[in-house]
Amino acid sequence: MTGAPEAKGLLRVLRGETLPVPPIWLMRQAGRYLPEYRALRQRASGFLDFCRTPALAVEATLQPVRRFGLDAAILFSDILVVPFALGQEVSFVEGEGPVLEPIRSATALRRLSMDDFAERVAPVHETVARVASLLPEKTVLIGFAGAPWTVASYMVEGGTSRDFNAVKAFAFADPDGFAALIDRLVDATIAYLVGQVAAGAEVVQLFDSWAGILPESAFRRWVIEPTRRIVAALRAQYPQLPVIGFPRGAGLMYRAYFRETGVSALGLDSTVPVTIVRKTLQSVGPVQGNLDPVQLVVGGTAMDDAVTAIRGSLGQGPFIFNLGHGVLPETPVEHVAELVALVRREAAA
Ligand code: CP3
Repeated sequence: MTGAPEAKGLLRVLRGETLPVPPIWLMRQAGRYLPEYRALRQRASGFLDFCRTPALAVEATLQPVRRFGLDAAILFSDILVVPFALGQEVSFVEGEGPVLEPIRSATALRRLSMDDFAERVAPVHETVARVASLLPEKTVLIGFAGAPWTVASYMVEGGTSRDFNAVKAFAFADPDGFAALIDRLVDATIAYLVGQVAAGAEVVQLFDSWAGILPESAFRRWVIEPTRRIVAALRAQYPQLPVIGFPRGAGLMYRAYFRETGVSALGLDSTVPVTIVRKTLQSVGPVQGNLDPVQLVVGGTAMDDAVTAIRGSLGQGPFIFNLGHGVLPETPVEHVAELVALVRREAAA
C-alpha cells in the first residue's frame, strides 16, 4: 500500500466514494474460459503445483488483465492451498474437482499442523510479490483466502458436496471439536493473508462460498465470528487494509454480516435484489456484484439489460462491478470484453 492509492478507482470506492463509472473485475477471471489459460495449465502436472509455481501463477494472474484491462488482478491460487499447507492431502481430479482426505472428528484434526505452513505457502507469497512488480500502475492487486467455514466445508466433506450435510453434522453434533478446526483455520488464514499483504496485495477478499446454508445461530458462530476475528487481526497490522467479504447466499444475514464482521465492502451473489440493496446494504458501505455468471455466458440483450439494472441501482452509491459468482468455463471470451466495454461506456442512471 504505497504511492498514491487515491488515484486507483477501486481503492477509492473501497473507502466509500461513489464513482460515475464503477471499477470492474471478475471472480475467477483467470480460468478455463481463456485459451491462453488452458495452454498454460498444460505446463503443470497438478492444479496445486500450478498454484505453487510462481512463474505459472504470475502468468495466469496477468492473463485476464492483459486481455481485458480490468481494474484489478486477483492472485491466481486456490482456497484449498490452506488445507494443503496444514498437512491435509488435497488433489484436483480432472472433471471432478477437489478431493481431500476428509476430517470428520476432533481426533482427525490432530493430523493438521502449522509446522510446514509458512514453507508451503511461500510460493504463493512469491507470486504476489512478482505480480506486484509487474502490474500496470493503475491496476489493483487483490489477494484472497477462503473464509474458515467454507474451507472447513471442503476439509470435512472431502470435496465438493451437494448439500454439505457432513460438515453441518460435525458443527451441530460436536461444536467444541468443530471450533478447534475453525480456530486453526482462523490462525492459518491470518498468517496467509498477512503474508500476501506484506508481499504487495492492496486489498484482500474472503470467499465464503457456502455461507448461505446455515441457520442463524450457526451463521453467527461459524461465518460472522471467524470473519470478524480475521478482519480484526489484519487491521491490527494494517489499519487501512480494505477487506471484501463474500458470504455467498447469506440472504437476510447479509446485513448482520456487513455490520458485525468489520469488512470494508460486501460481495453480493446474484440472488440479492439490487433494488433493495441500495437501502439495506449500501447504507452500511460499498458493495460489489452481482451479474449472474450465466447472463455473461448468454450475452446479448439478457446481459445488457441485467447490467443496466445493476448499474441503475447500485451505481448510485459506492459500487464495484463484478459477477455474483465466478466466471464459468463455457463463457465466450468476447462476452467478457463486451461486458467491460458496456460497464465503462454506459453512464450511471
Ligand atoms: O478468481 C481468480 O481468477 C483467482 C483464482 C481462484 C481460483 N479458485 C482458481 C481455480 C480463486 C479466487 C478461487 C477460489 C475458490 N476455489 C473458491 C471460492 C469461490 C467459488 O468459486 O465459490 C472455491 C470454492 C474453490 C475450490 C475449488 N477450486 C473448486 C470447487 C474447484 C473445482 C471446480 C472447477 O471450477 O474446476 C477448484 C479448481 C480451480 N480453482 C480452477 C481454477 C481456475 C479450475 C481448475 C483447473 O484449471 O484445472
